[in-house]
Amino acid sequence: MNDLAPLLTPEGRALLDAVRGTAPADELAVATRLRREHPAELVSAALGQARLRQRAAAKFGAGDAERMFFTPNGVEQSTRASVAAHRAERMKALGVASVADLCCGIGGDAIALARAGIRVLAVDRDPLTAAVARANAEALGLAALIEVREADVTEVDTGGYDAVFVDPARRGGRGRIFDPEAYSPPLSWAVGAALRAPHGALKVAPGIPHEIVPAGAEAEWISDGGDVKEAVLWFGTEPGAVRATLLPGPRTLLGAGLPDPRVRPVGRYLYEPDGAVIRAHLVAEVARDLDGGLVDETIAYVTADTLRPTPYATAYEITDRLPFNVKKLKALLRERGVGILTVKKRGSAVEPEELRRKVKPQGPNAATVFLTRVAGAPTMLVGHPALVGHPA
Ligand SMILES: C[S@@+](CC[C@H](N)C(=O)[O-])C[C@H]1O[C@@H](n2cnc3c(N)ncnc32)[C@H](O)[C@@H]1O
Repeated sequence: MNDLAPLLTPEGRALLDAVRGTAPADELAVATRLRREHPAELVSAALGQARLRQRAAAKFGAGDAERMFFTPNGVEQSTRASVAAHRAERMKALGVASVADLCCGIGGDAIALARAGIRVLAVDRDPLTAAVARANAEALGLAALIEVREADVTEVDTGGYDAVFVDPARRGGRGRIFDPEAYSPPLSWAVGAALRAPHGALKVAPGIPHEIVPAGAEAEWISDGGDVKEAVLWFGTEPGAVRATLLPGPRTLLGAGLPDPRVRPVGRYLYEPDGAVIRAHLVAEVARDLDGGLVDETIAYVTADTLRPTPYATAYEITDRLPFNVKKLKALLRERGVGILTVKKRGSAVEPEELRRKVKPQGPNAATVFLTRVAGAPTMLVGHPALVGHPA
Protein backbone atom coordinates (compact mmCIF):
# COMPACT_ATOMS: atom_id res chain seq x y z
CA MET A 1 0.00 0.00 0.00
CA ASN A 2 1.46 3.37 -0.91
CA ASP A 3 -1.69 5.49 -0.92
CA LEU A 4 -4.27 5.59 1.82
CA ALA A 5 -6.80 7.75 -0.04
CA PRO A 6 -8.66 4.92 -1.86
CA LEU A 7 -9.36 3.18 1.48
CA LEU A 8 -10.85 6.38 2.87
CA THR A 9 -13.48 6.64 0.10
CA PRO A 10 -16.99 5.28 0.81
CA GLU A 11 -16.18 2.21 -1.33
CA GLY A 12 -12.89 1.66 0.52
CA ARG A 13 -14.58 1.97 3.90
CA ALA A 14 -17.34 -0.44 2.86
CA LEU A 15 -14.68 -2.95 1.81
CA LEU A 16 -12.86 -2.52 5.12
CA ASP A 17 -16.11 -3.35 6.90
CA ALA A 18 -16.64 -6.35 4.64
CA VAL A 19 -13.21 -7.87 5.32
CA ARG A 20 -13.08 -7.14 9.07
CA GLY A 21 -11.77 -10.12 11.01
CA THR A 22 -11.09 -12.27 7.92
CA ALA A 23 -9.06 -15.31 8.95
CA PRO A 24 -5.88 -15.90 6.87
CA ALA A 25 -7.29 -19.19 5.60
CA ASP A 26 -10.38 -17.43 4.20
CA GLU A 27 -8.56 -14.56 2.49
CA LEU A 28 -8.43 -16.10 -0.95
CA ALA A 29 -12.14 -16.92 -1.04
CA VAL A 30 -13.09 -13.49 0.33
CA ALA A 31 -10.81 -11.74 -2.20
CA THR A 32 -12.22 -13.74 -5.12
CA ARG A 33 -15.77 -12.88 -4.14
CA LEU A 34 -15.11 -9.16 -3.57
CA ARG A 35 -13.10 -8.75 -6.78
CA ARG A 36 -16.24 -9.42 -8.78
CA GLU A 37 -17.57 -6.04 -7.73
CA HIS A 38 -14.53 -4.01 -6.66
CA PRO A 39 -11.11 -3.19 -8.14
CA ALA A 40 -8.58 -5.92 -7.31
CA GLU A 41 -6.10 -3.40 -5.93
CA LEU A 42 -8.61 -1.96 -3.50
CA VAL A 43 -9.62 -5.42 -2.33
CA SER A 44 -5.98 -6.33 -1.60
CA ALA A 45 -5.42 -3.02 0.16
CA ALA A 46 -8.47 -3.67 2.38
CA LEU A 47 -7.36 -7.21 3.16
CA GLY A 48 -3.83 -5.98 3.91
CA GLN A 49 -5.26 -3.38 6.26
CA ALA A 50 -7.43 -6.00 7.98
CA ARG A 51 -4.33 -8.09 8.58
CA LEU A 52 -2.46 -5.12 10.04
CA ARG A 53 -5.41 -4.29 12.28
CA GLN A 54 -5.38 -7.80 13.66
CA ARG A 55 -1.66 -7.51 14.37
CA ALA A 56 -2.13 -4.10 15.96
CA ALA A 57 -4.83 -5.32 18.35
CA ALA A 58 -2.16 -6.54 20.78
CA LYS A 59 -0.80 -3.00 21.08
CA PHE A 60 -3.92 -0.88 20.73
CA GLY A 61 -6.72 -3.19 21.83
CA ALA A 62 -9.18 -4.63 19.30
CA GLY A 63 -11.67 -1.75 19.70
CA ASP A 64 -9.23 0.95 18.58
CA ALA A 65 -7.21 -1.21 16.17
CA GLU A 66 -10.34 -2.05 14.19
CA ARG A 67 -10.99 1.61 13.51
CA MET A 68 -7.37 2.66 12.92
CA PHE A 69 -5.12 2.48 9.87
CA PHE A 70 -1.61 1.07 9.79
CA THR A 71 1.49 0.51 7.71
CA PRO A 72 3.63 -2.57 8.41
CA ASN A 73 6.45 -0.41 9.83
CA GLY A 74 3.93 1.75 11.65
CA VAL A 75 2.55 -1.22 13.62
CA GLU A 76 6.04 -2.44 14.43
CA GLN A 77 7.40 0.91 15.59
CA SER A 78 4.39 2.38 17.38
CA THR A 79 4.27 2.69 21.14
CA ARG A 80 1.76 0.32 22.75
CA ALA A 81 -1.28 2.12 24.14
CA SER A 82 -0.56 1.30 27.80
CA VAL A 83 2.94 2.80 27.66
CA ALA A 84 1.86 5.82 25.61
CA ALA A 85 -0.98 6.48 28.09
CA HIS A 86 1.44 6.36 31.02
CA ARG A 87 3.73 8.86 29.33
CA ALA A 88 0.79 11.12 28.46
CA GLU A 89 -0.38 11.06 32.08
CA ARG A 90 3.07 12.10 33.24
CA MET A 91 3.06 14.96 30.73
CA LYS A 92 -0.33 16.04 32.01
CA ALA A 93 0.87 15.87 35.61
CA LEU A 94 3.73 18.20 34.63
CA GLY A 95 1.15 20.73 33.50
CA VAL A 96 1.89 20.22 29.82
CA ALA A 97 -0.98 21.38 27.59
CA SER A 98 0.70 21.17 24.17
CA VAL A 99 3.28 18.78 22.74
CA ALA A 100 5.30 18.72 19.53
CA ASP A 101 5.41 14.98 18.77
CA LEU A 102 8.44 14.79 16.49
CA CYS A 103 8.49 11.49 14.58
CA CYS A 104 4.84 10.67 15.19
CA GLY A 105 4.67 7.51 13.06
CA ILE A 106 1.08 6.29 12.74
CA GLY A 107 0.27 8.26 15.88
CA GLY A 108 0.53 5.87 18.83
CA ASP A 109 1.84 8.55 21.17
CA ALA A 110 -0.12 11.42 19.64
CA ILE A 111 -3.38 9.55 20.27
CA ALA A 112 -2.55 8.93 23.93
CA LEU A 113 -1.49 12.55 24.42
CA ALA A 114 -4.71 13.83 22.86
CA ARG A 115 -6.76 11.47 24.98
CA ALA A 116 -5.09 13.02 28.02
CA GLY A 117 -6.46 16.35 26.77
CA ILE A 118 -3.14 17.59 25.37
CA ARG A 119 -2.96 19.47 22.05
CA VAL A 120 -0.49 17.79 19.69
CA LEU A 121 1.52 18.81 16.65
CA ALA A 122 2.37 15.42 15.13
CA VAL A 123 5.21 15.45 12.60
CA ASP A 124 6.48 12.71 10.29
CA ARG A 125 8.38 13.08 7.04
CA ASP A 126 7.03 9.95 5.44
CA PRO A 127 3.95 10.95 3.38
CA LEU A 128 2.03 7.69 3.82
CA THR A 129 2.81 7.51 7.56
CA ALA A 130 1.66 11.11 8.03
CA ALA A 131 -1.55 10.37 6.09
CA VAL A 132 -2.16 7.34 8.32
CA ALA A 133 -1.60 9.42 11.47
CA ARG A 134 -4.13 11.95 10.19
CA ALA A 135 -6.66 9.22 9.39
CA ASN A 136 -6.18 7.77 12.88
CA ALA A 137 -6.79 11.11 14.58
CA GLU A 138 -10.03 11.36 12.63
CA ALA A 139 -11.08 7.74 13.13
CA LEU A 140 -10.74 8.10 16.91
CA GLY A 141 -12.46 11.48 17.10
CA LEU A 142 -9.26 13.31 18.07
CA ALA A 143 -8.76 15.48 14.99
CA ALA A 144 -9.55 18.66 16.93
CA LEU A 145 -6.52 18.03 19.18
CA ILE A 146 -4.03 16.55 16.71
CA GLU A 147 -2.54 18.56 13.85
CA VAL A 148 -0.52 16.26 11.59
CA ARG A 149 2.27 17.79 9.53
CA GLU A 150 4.32 16.03 6.86
CA ALA A 151 7.79 17.47 7.38
CA ASP A 152 11.35 16.76 8.44
CA VAL A 153 11.41 17.29 12.20
CA THR A 154 14.71 19.14 11.98
CA GLU A 155 12.91 21.89 10.08
CA VAL A 156 9.97 22.32 12.45
CA ASP A 157 9.73 25.29 14.82
CA THR A 158 8.67 23.93 18.20
CA GLY A 159 8.65 27.31 19.94
CA GLY A 160 5.41 27.85 21.84
CA TYR A 161 4.92 24.16 22.73
CA ASP A 162 5.08 23.14 26.40
CA ALA A 163 6.94 19.95 25.56
CA VAL A 164 8.81 18.18 22.81
CA PHE A 165 8.50 14.42 22.46
CA VAL A 166 10.81 12.53 20.11
CA ASP A 167 10.52 8.86 19.20
CA PRO A 168 13.28 8.44 16.62
CA ALA A 169 13.30 5.65 14.05
CA ARG A 170 15.53 2.91 15.40
CA ARG A 171 15.43 0.54 12.45
CA GLY A 172 17.69 0.76 9.46
CA GLY A 173 17.68 -1.33 6.31
CA ARG A 174 19.46 -4.07 8.23
CA GLY A 175 17.31 -4.28 11.36
CA ARG A 176 17.50 -2.59 14.72
CA ILE A 177 19.96 0.20 15.32
CA PHE A 178 21.85 0.13 18.63
CA ASP A 179 23.97 3.26 18.27
CA PRO A 180 21.78 6.20 19.37
CA GLU A 181 23.67 8.49 17.00
CA ALA A 182 22.46 6.29 14.13
CA TYR A 183 18.81 6.87 15.14
CA SER A 184 16.82 9.06 12.76
CA PRO A 185 17.09 11.80 13.89
CA PRO A 186 20.24 11.18 15.99
CA LEU A 187 19.89 11.22 19.78
CA SER A 188 22.10 14.31 20.13
CA TRP A 189 19.70 16.26 17.89
CA ALA A 190 16.72 15.03 19.91
CA VAL A 191 18.40 16.09 23.18
CA GLY A 192 18.94 19.57 21.74
CA ALA A 193 15.29 19.78 20.68
CA ALA A 194 14.11 18.63 24.13
CA LEU A 195 16.32 21.18 25.90
CA ARG A 196 14.82 24.04 23.90
CA ALA A 197 11.33 23.33 25.31
CA PRO A 198 10.17 23.65 28.94
CA HIS A 199 9.74 19.85 29.04
CA GLY A 200 11.04 17.05 26.89
CA ALA A 201 10.75 13.28 26.59
CA LEU A 202 12.78 11.06 24.29
CA LYS A 203 11.94 7.43 23.71
CA VAL A 204 15.06 5.29 23.43
CA ALA A 205 15.91 1.60 23.34
CA PRO A 206 15.88 -0.02 26.81
CA GLY A 207 19.45 -1.18 26.26
CA ILE A 208 20.74 2.40 26.19
CA PRO A 209 24.01 2.52 28.19
CA HIS A 210 23.61 4.53 31.41
CA GLU A 211 26.81 6.44 30.61
CA ILE A 212 25.23 8.21 27.67
CA VAL A 213 22.18 9.47 29.57
CA PRO A 214 22.73 13.25 29.54
CA ALA A 215 23.45 14.78 32.95
CA GLY A 216 20.33 16.96 32.88
CA ALA A 217 17.99 14.07 32.12
CA GLU A 218 15.88 11.74 34.20
CA ALA A 219 15.91 8.16 32.90
CA GLU A 220 12.84 5.95 33.17
CA TRP A 221 12.71 2.30 32.17
CA ILE A 222 9.24 0.94 31.52
CA SER A 223 7.92 -2.63 31.49
CA ASP A 224 4.42 -3.82 30.79
CA GLY A 225 3.26 -7.16 32.12
CA GLY A 226 6.89 -7.97 32.99
CA ASP A 227 8.30 -7.25 29.52
CA VAL A 228 10.67 -4.31 29.20
CA LYS A 229 9.34 -2.00 26.50
CA GLU A 230 11.45 1.12 26.37
CA ALA A 231 13.41 3.77 28.20
CA VAL A 232 12.49 7.45 28.25
CA LEU A 233 14.84 10.34 28.83
CA TRP A 234 12.92 13.17 30.50
CA PHE A 235 13.99 16.80 30.55
CA GLY A 236 12.50 19.41 32.84
CA THR A 237 11.62 16.83 35.52
CA GLU A 238 14.22 15.57 38.03
CA PRO A 239 17.75 15.76 36.59
CA GLY A 240 19.77 12.66 37.45
CA ALA A 241 16.77 10.68 38.70
CA VAL A 242 16.50 7.04 37.65
CA ARG A 243 13.24 5.14 37.88
CA ALA A 244 11.72 1.82 36.90
CA THR A 245 8.03 1.95 36.08
CA LEU A 246 5.98 -1.21 35.95
CA LEU A 247 2.71 -1.30 34.06
CA PRO A 248 -0.09 -1.93 34.60
CA GLY A 249 -0.19 0.18 37.70
CA PRO A 250 1.91 2.15 37.36
CA ARG A 251 4.31 1.19 40.14
CA THR A 252 7.41 3.32 40.17
CA LEU A 253 10.66 2.54 41.93
CA LEU A 254 12.89 5.57 42.30
CA GLY A 255 16.65 5.07 42.42
CA ALA A 256 18.34 6.06 45.69
CA GLY A 257 21.87 5.87 44.28
CA LEU A 258 22.67 2.82 46.42
CA PRO A 259 25.94 0.93 45.98
CA ASP A 260 25.81 -2.61 44.58
CA PRO A 261 24.10 -5.01 46.98
CA ARG A 262 26.27 -7.37 49.05
CA VAL A 263 26.61 -11.01 48.05
CA ARG A 264 25.19 -13.39 50.65
CA PRO A 265 24.45 -17.10 51.00
CA VAL A 266 21.34 -18.38 49.27
CA GLY A 267 18.41 -18.05 51.66
CA ARG A 268 14.97 -19.59 51.63
CA TYR A 269 13.69 -17.20 48.97
CA LEU A 270 14.94 -16.11 45.58
CA TYR A 271 13.56 -12.94 44.01
CA GLU A 272 13.64 -12.33 40.28
CA PRO A 273 13.53 -8.56 39.73
CA ASP A 274 11.38 -7.13 36.95
CA GLY A 275 13.31 -6.39 33.76
CA ALA A 276 12.75 -2.63 34.09
CA VAL A 277 14.34 -2.74 37.56
CA ILE A 278 17.35 -4.58 36.17
CA ARG A 279 17.76 -2.26 33.18
CA ALA A 280 17.45 0.78 35.46
CA HIS A 281 20.18 -0.71 37.72
CA LEU A 282 17.86 -0.61 40.72
CA VAL A 283 18.41 -4.15 41.99
CA ALA A 284 20.08 -2.69 45.08
CA GLU A 285 16.90 -0.76 45.92
CA VAL A 286 14.88 -3.97 45.70
CA ALA A 287 17.46 -5.90 47.77
CA ARG A 288 17.28 -3.18 50.44
CA ASP A 289 13.49 -3.45 50.66
CA LEU A 290 13.73 -7.25 50.95
CA ASP A 291 16.62 -7.18 53.39
CA GLY A 292 18.38 -9.42 50.90
CA GLY A 293 21.56 -9.72 48.91
CA LEU A 294 22.82 -11.11 45.62
CA VAL A 295 23.60 -14.77 44.96
CA ASP A 296 26.61 -13.64 42.93
CA GLU A 297 28.08 -10.23 42.32
CA THR A 298 27.36 -10.43 38.57
CA ILE A 299 23.84 -11.89 38.75
CA ALA A 300 20.61 -9.97 39.25
CA TYR A 301 18.89 -12.51 41.52
CA VAL A 302 18.18 -11.36 45.06
CA THR A 303 18.08 -13.86 47.88
CA ALA A 304 16.58 -13.37 51.35
CA ASP A 305 15.41 -15.36 54.35
CA THR A 306 11.95 -13.88 54.50
CA LEU A 307 9.03 -13.55 52.16
CA ARG A 308 8.00 -9.96 51.57
CA PRO A 309 5.50 -8.69 49.08
CA THR A 310 7.02 -6.47 46.43
CA PRO A 311 5.71 -5.51 43.01
CA TYR A 312 9.28 -5.17 41.73
CA ALA A 313 10.31 -8.83 41.88
CA THR A 314 8.75 -12.28 41.69
CA ALA A 315 9.42 -14.44 44.73
CA TYR A 316 10.30 -18.14 44.66
CA GLU A 317 10.77 -20.51 47.55
CA ILE A 318 13.97 -22.49 47.05
CA THR A 319 13.83 -26.13 48.11
CA ASP A 320 17.09 -27.50 46.68
CA ARG A 321 20.50 -26.33 45.61
CA LEU A 322 22.69 -28.44 43.34
CA PRO A 323 25.96 -27.85 41.54
CA PHE A 324 25.30 -27.72 37.80
CA ASN A 325 24.74 -31.38 36.96
CA VAL A 326 22.00 -32.55 34.63
CA LYS A 327 21.97 -36.13 35.95
CA LYS A 328 21.51 -34.98 39.53
CA LEU A 329 18.72 -32.65 38.48
CA LYS A 330 17.03 -35.46 36.57
CA ALA A 331 17.18 -37.73 39.61
CA LEU A 332 15.83 -35.03 41.91
CA LEU A 333 12.94 -34.22 39.61
CA ARG A 334 12.06 -37.87 39.21
CA GLU A 335 12.06 -38.32 42.99
CA ARG A 336 9.70 -35.34 43.32
CA GLY A 337 7.43 -36.40 40.43
CA VAL A 338 8.02 -33.15 38.58
CA GLY A 339 6.45 -33.19 35.12
CA ILE A 340 6.00 -29.46 34.64
CA LEU A 341 9.38 -27.78 34.72
CA THR A 342 9.92 -24.05 34.27
CA VAL A 343 13.53 -23.24 33.43
CA LYS A 344 14.90 -19.80 34.21
CA LYS A 345 18.44 -18.70 33.74
CA ARG A 346 20.83 -15.89 34.42
CA GLY A 347 24.54 -16.27 33.85
CA SER A 348 24.24 -19.67 32.18
CA ALA A 349 24.70 -20.55 28.52
CA VAL A 350 22.48 -23.64 28.75
CA GLU A 351 19.41 -23.61 26.53
CA PRO A 352 16.25 -24.19 28.62
CA GLU A 353 14.66 -26.37 25.91
CA GLU A 354 17.74 -28.55 25.69
CA LEU A 355 17.79 -29.03 29.45
CA ARG A 356 14.10 -29.92 29.49
CA ARG A 357 14.71 -32.48 26.74
CA LYS A 358 17.55 -34.04 28.70
CA VAL A 359 15.78 -34.30 32.07
CA LYS A 360 12.50 -35.53 30.52
CA PRO A 361 10.23 -34.29 33.32
CA GLN A 362 7.46 -36.72 34.22
CA GLY A 363 4.84 -36.62 36.92
CA PRO A 364 2.03 -34.53 38.35
CA ASN A 365 4.09 -31.86 40.13
CA ALA A 366 5.53 -28.53 39.01
CA ALA A 367 8.88 -26.92 39.79
CA THR A 368 11.08 -24.07 38.67
CA VAL A 369 14.80 -24.50 38.17
CA PHE A 370 17.16 -21.52 38.06
CA LEU A 371 20.38 -22.05 36.14
CA THR A 372 22.75 -19.49 37.52
CA ARG A 373 25.97 -18.83 39.34
CA VAL A 374 26.21 -18.79 43.09
CA ALA A 375 29.36 -17.12 44.36
CA GLY A 376 31.02 -17.87 41.03
CA ALA A 377 29.99 -21.56 40.78
CA PRO A 378 27.51 -22.81 38.13
CA THR A 379 24.50 -23.81 40.23
CA MET A 380 20.94 -25.08 39.94
CA LEU A 381 18.40 -23.75 42.40
CA VAL A 382 15.11 -25.63 42.46
CA GLY A 383 11.92 -24.23 43.90
CA HIS A 384 8.47 -22.91 43.13
CA PRO A 385 6.70 -19.55 43.03
CA ALA A 386 6.09 -18.35 46.57
CA LEU A 387 2.52 -17.27 47.17
CA VAL A 388 2.58 -13.68 48.22
CA GLY A 389 -0.01 -10.97 47.81
CA HIS A 390 1.17 -7.75 46.24
CA PRO A 391 0.42 -4.64 48.24
CA ALA A 392 -2.59 -2.79 46.85
C1 LIG B 1 9.54 4.93 15.95
S1 LIG B 1 8.53 5.72 14.77
C2 LIG B 1 7.42 6.67 15.74
C3 LIG B 1 6.32 5.87 16.37
C4 LIG B 1 5.28 6.68 17.11
N1 LIG B 1 5.77 7.26 18.33
C5 LIG B 1 4.05 5.85 17.42
O1 LIG B 1 3.81 5.52 18.58
O2 LIG B 1 3.31 5.51 16.49
C6 LIG B 1 9.65 6.85 14.04
C7 LIG B 1 9.13 7.70 12.89
O3 LIG B 1 10.08 8.73 12.67
C8 LIG B 1 9.99 9.14 11.32
N2 LIG B 1 11.21 9.93 11.05
C9 LIG B 1 12.50 9.53 11.11
N3 LIG B 1 13.33 10.56 10.86
C10 LIG B 1 12.54 11.65 10.67
C11 LIG B 1 12.80 13.03 10.40
N4 LIG B 1 14.04 13.48 10.29
N5 LIG B 1 11.74 13.85 10.27
C12 LIG B 1 10.48 13.39 10.39
N6 LIG B 1 10.17 12.11 10.65
C13 LIG B 1 11.19 11.26 10.79
C14 LIG B 1 9.83 7.85 10.56
O4 LIG B 1 9.19 8.10 9.32
C15 LIG B 1 8.96 7.02 11.55
O5 LIG B 1 7.60 7.07 11.17
